[in-house]
Amino acid sequence: MAGFNIKSSLILALLLAPLVAYLAGRLRVLSLSYYNARGRMPLHANFSSYEIKFQDRIRNCEDVVLLRDRRIALLACDPGRDNWNTVMGDFVHGVEPDANAQVYAYKYDSEDPDALVRIEIVGLNDELRTIGFDFHEPSAMLLLTNHLRQGGPRIEQLRLDLDTFTATHLRSLSHPLISIPNAIAVQSDSQFFVTNQHRFVAARGRLLWFLESYLAPPLANVVHARILASGEVDAHVVARQAYPNGITLLNSTTLAVAATSQRLVHLYTVDKAKPGLSYPTLRPERTIRGLPFLPDNLVTAPDGALLIAGHPHLPSLTAFSHSRRICHRPEILAGAGTDAARKCENTRGASWVGEWTPQVGFRDIYSGWDYPTSATVVRNREHGMGIVAGLYAKGILVWRD
Ligand SMILES: *[C@@H]1O[C@H](CO)[C@@H](O)[C@H](O)[C@H]1NC(C)=O
Ligand SMILES: *[C@@H]1O[C@H](CO)[C@@H](O)[C@H](O)[C@H]1NC(C)=O
Repeated sequence: MAGFNIKSSLILALLLAPLVAYLAGRLRVLSLSYYNARGRMPLHANFSSYEIKFQDRIRNCEDVVLLRDRRIALLACDPGRDNWNTVMGDFVHGVEPDANAQVYAYKYDSEDPDALVRIEIVGLNDELRTIGFDFHEPSAMLLLTNHLRQGGPRIEQLRLDLDTFTATHLRSLSHPLISIPNAIAVQSDSQFFVTNQHRFVAARGRLLWFLESYLAPPLANVVHARILASGEVDAHVVARQAYPNGITLLNSTTLAVAATSQRLVHLYTVDKAKPGLSYPTLRPERTIRGLPFLPDNLVTAPDGALLIAGHPHLPSLTAFSHSRRICHRPEILAGAGTDAARKCENTRGASWVGEWTPQVGFRDIYSGWDYPTSATVVRNREHGMGIVAGLYAKGILVWRD
């Protein structure tokens, strides 16, 4: 009898262990709502000074690419995100479509007001609603995700001339596997990795989208894509995980992918294409745990560190994002009464960014409520500078060391 009891408890424990591990993981995500509430969240500012720049010129810059030799930061900013965000599942119908997303070049060494240049996009006649993007400097290839309202998601391929600051549209890349493209990591002049952050798209039904966001099953994917000479795309799923968001090649053999809804970053080893296959395979290498926020975009710094930006407090992010469609629009805010103005004043979003190295682990760079909704951080230690860009923020945070 005793033997039977031990055996059945063992079986029970074996069955329960994954469930307990799963629930502990969910708890680690949910606990951020408590520990990172305003007033309780620790504040960090590990730099000499910072400034929030261009607040009256740009907002909702989700992604940044640093070009260290040119001392330029490329930014993609979409004012339309207040009303249309496929990631957060926010769709305000029946409003005038906002101005298109824009790409900017910020010459970060220059103090003059012209340091921020809007890049002229030539030959793209459709709407542009951008989240993540990437740039392959040797071939001048710019890839912009586009979540336009009509016609389905795609990736715009452009050639960016950094002497004239014009980007010429070459083609729109679409493929059934590019279903909800979030972030891109270019590998060469014709190959890239792209994350599809959900399996269930909010626009097609909120319940499954919501459950996927909160239960974090490993159903979404990372896709490897190759642009063929014909302009068509050859795409293959190379990894499945929960909420693949930011993506960056840490070096030639390691790909880092954020798992936002799990509060993790997964590192994968990139193996060369097996004989007969046209795409590389990914092998799980290690997982970065213990981040004090839900990771969004990932960037590989010139010194090799993995820069991670994220969202420390989801309830505030949701409230902040929902309020922007009023707070970001002076013409609507003016007619919304004093209560609305006060609410805009009091609704705050949090940011938290840091860097990770295999030697030291995670180190904080900035956390606080003065600059909201950090989505990306870039840094050039050698130039003593860094930038944080916020999903729903006005301007960008630029720091100096
Ligand atoms: C790439 O980065 C990973 C993680 O930091 C490291 O373990 C690996 O040794 C690096 N590989 C190369 C070829 O530098
Ligand atoms: C601040 O940054 C410096 C340089 O990156 C680093 O050496 C130091 O450990 C950081 N301090 C904290 C408290 O993270």
